[in-house]
Amino acid sequence: MSDTLRVAGLDHSFGDLQVLKNLDISVGDGEFVSIVGPSGSGKSTLFHLIGGLLTPTAGTIEINGVNAVGRRGLIGYMPQQPALMPWRTIEANVVLAREIAGKADKSLAREWLARVGLEGFARSYPHQLSGGMQQRVAFLRALISDQELLCLDEPFSALDAMTRSEMHRWLLDIWEANRRSVLFVTHNIEEALLLSDTVYAFSHRPATVLEKIIVPFDRPRRADVVDDPDFVKLRRRLTDLLTGSPS
Ligand SMILES: Nc1ncnc2c1ncn2[C@@H]1O[C@H](COP(=O)(O)OP(=O)(O)OP(=O)(O)O)[C@@H](O)[C@H]1O
Ligand SMILES: [Mg+2]
Repeated sequence: MSDTLRVAGLDHSFGDLQVLKNLDISVGDGEFVSIVGPSGSGKSTLFHLIGGLLTPTAGTIEINGVNAVGRRGLIGYMPQQPALMPWRTIEANVVLAREIAGKADKSLAREWLARVGLEGFARSYPHQLSGGMQQRVAFLRALISDQELLCLDEPFSALDAMTRSEMHRWLLDIWEANRRSVLFVTHNIEEALLLSDTVYAFSHRPATVLEKIIVPFDRPRRADVVDDPDFVKLRRRLTDLLTGSPS
């Protein structure tokens, strides 16, 4: 498997505040990779670096083998705050990234909106949608951007548990059909294990990789995988790592 993303020796500081320390991460072609880590450890900062919004203090970032430091427009990105444009309709928000790339297509937007149960909102404006609905729109925008690497920063954090598990199923179905490379940030250990091939546990700031866990369960993932004794063990292991308990 070739790597879509390769981050090596990455350091980042904001003035005196060191946020990332000697970070090594890779996302293979078509791989689903999650990052779990404490709040304020630098996960969103890592995405800003990968997306070229910030330049690292040290280290390398390669996308498909090409230097991506400081380069924008190479990833499909869903920021932690949905950041929809309030003056654009929902369908116009969904096609934004494609429009920038010269490939706007509202029928594609409407097709995807229907798949997430938002077909009635194509002509609405963001303020007319709930927070969770806005998050789904932002997610779609990243998804249809046509980039090989999707960076999703806590895409489901505003959703209630039921909608969240529906979205897991939905995301897994889409991903299994399309096999995009995904880098996914979450605070939810179970979500990370359920969705991913690989999970990185980050330390407190300055964030470094505490452990890289390979998730061994078959695809497509069954919903009851959460009851598998090996799943329970991995969940325990990650919980211990993130709460600093000895194991
Ligand atoms: N532009 C910036 N200028 C200065 N400091 C920043 C900037 N962006 C982030 N920070 C600081 O960097 C640290 C890491 O922030 P970041 O948003 O990356 O954390 P996070 O891991 O995404 O947290 P959360 O899980 O709460 O989203 C924080 O202490 C934050 O205050
Ligand atoms: Mg964040």
